[in-house]
Amino acid sequence: MSFPVHRPRRLRQNEALRSLVRETQVSLSGLVQPLFVCPGKDLVRPISSMPGIAQMSVDRIVEECRELRDCGIENVILFGIPAEKDATGSSAVLDDGIVPTAVRAIKTALPEMIVWCDVCLCEYTDHGHCGILRGPEIDNDATLPRLQAMALACAKAGADVVAPSDMMDGRVGAIRSTLDLAGMHQTVLVSYAAKYCSGFYGPFREAAESAPKFGDRRSYQMDPANTDEALREVALDLAEGADIVMVKPALSYLDIIRRVKDRFDVPIAAYNVSGEYAMVKAAAQNGWLDGDRVMKEVLLSIARAGASIILTYHAKEYARLSRG
Ligand code: PBG
Repeated sequence: MSFPVHRPRRLRQNEALRSLVRETQVSLSGLVQPLFVCPGKDLVRPISSMPGIAQMSVDRIVEECRELRDCGIENVILFGIPAEKDATGSSAVLDDGIVPTAVRAIKTALPEMIVWCDVCLCEYTDHGHCGILRGPEIDNDATLPRLQAMALACAKAGADVVAPSDMMDGRVGAIRSTLDLAGMHQTVLVSYAAKYCSGFYGPFREAAESAPKFGDRRSYQMDPANTDEALREVALDLAEGADIVMVKPALSYLDIIRRVKDRFDVPIAAYNVSGEYAMVKAAAQNGWLDGDRVMKEVLLSIARAGASIILTYHAKEYARLSRG
């Protein structure tokens, strides 16, 4: 009925007009590159299910951070692969553990880099669960002191951000109070608030050597069927002192990102996880889709859903592509 008065194509005529009316941008300042740090020297161990991503020793991580900074990525999140694992994840809380060592090296070489530390025990426990066990159960309250100590070790090493990803109840408040008691008021706390129990973490578990040796993570990570519960988790974490809340994974949970965005006026992060990355890479390697184009569309969709911060294995290649 309104044709020919209304012609939406008018604003799509050329790139200048299209960019004039473009509603969403993916800014490099909102991208966070995940990095896997392992013991050793001059080591780069590619992860087969995540083309382009590798475990790296601390010296190589520093070089990687320099390259990231040079192409416009200022945020990295570190995951540690420790030399030793045990039942309680003791190597997660050491001041000279793998992640604090990497943090100090990065902050010495590149003080302006924003260094995030993932806080979770699964890379450090020999059973691969994110908490301490009592029999076959994950003991929530016994896990909290470990997470507090791990976050404190990271903050003392100079981490700008600590990001608990374990999904234990009460961990945000526990970590915040530990940091504050130690005078680390400035350490930012990003909570993986709505973290789902997802098959999309598969490649990460190869990368971080953190697959559970028995059972699964259903008793602590969220049921993929739930949305109201995500809002409750976010509300709790904000009440406990989270500065930024995260939804994870991203692509199958864009509706969750949007609901959180509509409800809460805090910065929202989303984690474009390993399986989401691997799917794009695998299809692109087969020539089944245009990897660069799909990557841009994926990141745009996450930003459009409401996340201003995106943790993604694509960060570096996206930065290179967008800078030409
Ligand atoms: C640790 C953690 C996981 C991821 C981030 N932190 C794995 C898991 O919960 O099993 C997944 C990230 C990814 O798949 O890229 N708890």
